[in-house]
Amino acid sequence: MAKLEHAILPHGGSLVDRMLRGTLRASAIERVEKLRRVTLSAVGISDLELIANGAFSPLTGFMDQASYQSVVDEMYLPNGVVWSMPITLPVSEEQAHTLKIGQEIALGDESGRLCGLMELSDIYRPDKHREAQRVFRTTEDKHPGVARLFGQGDVYLGGQVWQINGPENPPFANYRLSPVEMRKVFAERGWRRIVAFQTRNPIHRAHEYIQKAALEIMDGLLVHPLVGETKSDDIPADVRMRSYEALLRDYYPQDRTQLAVYPAAMRYAGPREAIFHALARKNYGCTHFIVGRDHAGVGTYYGTYDAQRIFDTFAPHELGITPLFFEHSFFCRTCGQIVSSKTCPHGVEHHMTLSGTAVRALLSNGELPPPEFSRPEVATILIEAYRKG
Ligand code: ADX
Repeated sequence: MAKLEHAILPHGGSLVDRMLRGTLRASAIERVEKLRRVTLSAVGISDLELIANGAFSPLTGFMDQASYQSVVDEMYLPNGVVWSMPITLPVSEEQAHTLKIGQEIALGDESGRLCGLMELSDIYRPDKHREAQRVFRTTEDKHPGVARLFGQGDVYLGGQVWQINGPENPPFANYRLSPVEMRKVFAERGWRRIVAFQTRNPIHRAHEYIQKAALEIMDGLLVHPLVGETKSDDIPADVRMRSYEALLRDYYPQDRTQLAVYPAAMRYAGPREAIFHALARKNYGCTHFIVGRDHAGVGTYYGTYDAQRIFDTFAPHELGITPLFFEHSFFCRTCGQIVSSKTCPHGVEHHMTLSGTAVRALLSNGELPPPEFSRPEVATILIEAYRKG
């Protein structure tokens, strides 16, 4: 059995814990009435949760200007630790004018519920075009990540945070394991080599193939779907969760598979987000991370393997989690199995490739895609969801 102390080190060396408990929490709750309050968006709420529970270790708060600049320009925090995504707290100019550096501020959600505290250490105006270009590799506002960036406040607040209350009635509570809880599960299961699979989509046969190919050389597989904010035409998380449960129940070895949710918001930042996804999964205790075709991509903004290439710009010890790269996979009729260009000698006329649009058209017509593309148990759940609209 693996012991906790055998586990992979969190990013930056130790797991951050920024949750207030007991008397500290009680005295914070007393103080907040007198504090200025900043309302967090859904993305801000999930960032706060993931900072507080250590999934974003070594971050302890929203980035100040020095960290932001260094991450946007270099993909490193000022202390030399790799970090690829800015984690920021945007507010409007009007709100910024009511705040002062050095203040303690309360963080709430849109319903007025108290979430946490922040020690305000910086107030700054980002160059959003530069951020878009560096992080998303485009300034087009058709890109969902760029649209979100341009639509949010023009001033960023930096400072350390404490969480007072986690999200209210969070969905998928049974699957919402924190990094500490996940590490305990891995230790109990005796897994040492653990591969994580990030997804924002239903799991079709090609995904299943790369997961199981990885599992052949690992002790365990963490299926870790992202369930925070996604763009409106992505399949909702509750539908996806039902489809993952059905698939894992019928086709995955229970003793080598773990399903849990990753409550982060999707950024659609392709290569940079692949690094970010990998570092977070290292914090959850995973040693390996799957990166397939166009990881975290959208439209045609990134090359098919850009999200793999970016890993080579870092020394392996800087990341501390090993990426497992997979080629674009699909079904070959002549091989009679899922393959990629690395394993199949046949031409395209032997291959079954279905576009996302074609699959959506089938499902919304109530038709099952071919079983070589999607397990009927999965497709049936998706059809049902389309039917209910
Ligand atoms: S993502 O935005 O969460 O990356 P998605 O859920 O589509 O999107 O993909 C999950 C993982 O599977 C990513 O690592 C992606 O690169 C990989 N992937 C998706 N489809 C394929 C495929 N046909 N062949 C190989 N890898 C794939």
